[in-house]
Amino acid sequence: MSFTPASRGGDPAVPLTKVTVPALSEMKRQGKPISALTAYDYATARLVDECGIDLLLVGDSLAMVVLGHENTLAVTVDEMLHHTRAVRRAVRRALVVADMPFGSYHGSTRDGLANAVRFVKEAGAEAVKIEGPRFELVRELTHAQIPVIGHLGLTPQSVHRMGGYRVQARTADEVRELRDDALALARAGAGAVVLEGIPREVAATITSELPVPTIGIGAGPDCDGQILVFHDLVNLTYAPPAKFVRRYGDAAAAMRAAIEHYREDVEHRAFPSDEESYHLPVPTRRILRAGSAEDEDADAVVNRDALPDWGEAGKD
Ligand code: KIV
Repeated sequence: MSFTPASRGGDPAVPLTKVTVPALSEMKRQGKPISALTAYDYATARLVDECGIDLLLVGDSLAMVVLGHENTLAVTVDEMLHHTRAVRRAVRRALVVADMPFGSYHGSTRDGLANAVRFVKEAGAEAVKIEGPRFELVRELTHAQIPVIGHLGLTPQSVHRMGGYRVQARTADEVRELRDDALALARAGAGAVVLEGIPREVAATITSELPVPTIGIGAGPDCDGQILVFHDLVNLTYAPPAKFVRRYGDAAAAMRAAIEHYREDVEHRAFPSDEESYHLPVPTRRILRAGSAEDEDADAVVNRDALPDWGEAGKD
C-alpha cells in the first residue's frame, strides 16, 4: 500500500511505501537498520511517523511514562486499545505494533488470541508484541493471521520474578536458553524479536543466527534495529535514565519555557493581544452605537436576535 506524503518534508509526488512485517525481514536481508520508537497519542505518533521512523510501538511503558504508574503491570487492555486507536489514526507509513499488556495473554491461548484479535479489529494494530517464550501462543496468533513481535531478555512484565529491572543472560546457561528461545520464537512465526537489557555479545550472536530481525533496547549496536521509549528520547521522563538511553532533545526544557512565558504573559495582561481577539462587525457596532444614543438602557439594544450572523467565531 502506498500513500502520498501530504505533510512530510519529501516530494509529495513520491508515494510512501507502508512498512509491513515482511518488509522488516527484507530490511534485515538488505542490511538496512530498522528504526523504532514508542508512541501513545495522535500528536507524537504523527511526528514520529512524519520523521520516517519505521515501527511505532504502542508500548505498555505508557503505564509509566503517560499514566504515572510505578511499573507496566497496571495498564489494561481497554487503555491500550484507546491509545492504539489514537496512534493508528496518526500513522500513514510506519508499522503500528500494539503491546499486549500484562494479564492479557498469560492465561489460556484462547484468551490471548481473543485479546490480540481486539487489537487488530478494534484498534487497527498491524502486529502485536508479547513478552517471553510463549511459543504456542505465537503459533496460534500467526495461524490466525496476526503478526507477532516477540520480546526476550529483560521483560518488564516479569519485574517481580526478576527481582527488579536487571540485565539478563549473563551466565552461559542463560545465554544458551535465550538463544534457544529466540530461535524457537522465530520458528513459531514471530516476525521480529525485541531484545531488551542483555549483553551486546549475546544480542550480536542471536542477531546473526535469527532469520527474522532483532530490535534492540539496551542490547548494543549489533541488532537489526533499535527502539527507545519516546519520552526517554526527548527528556519527558522524570527518573534518571537507564545506561542505554541517549537523550536526543530536551522537550521538557522547551515546554517549561513556553508554559512559563505564557503564565507571565497572562499575569501581565500581555496575552491575548488585540490582534488575537475577535471584533464586532462594523454594522453591528453602528447599530449598538445608534441604539445607545437613543436609549440609555443598553440591555434592550443588545438583543442577539437582532444582530447579524457572526458565523462560527461568534458563537458562545
Ligand atoms: O513498552 C515498551 O515501551 C517496550 C519497549 C520495547 C520499548 O516494550
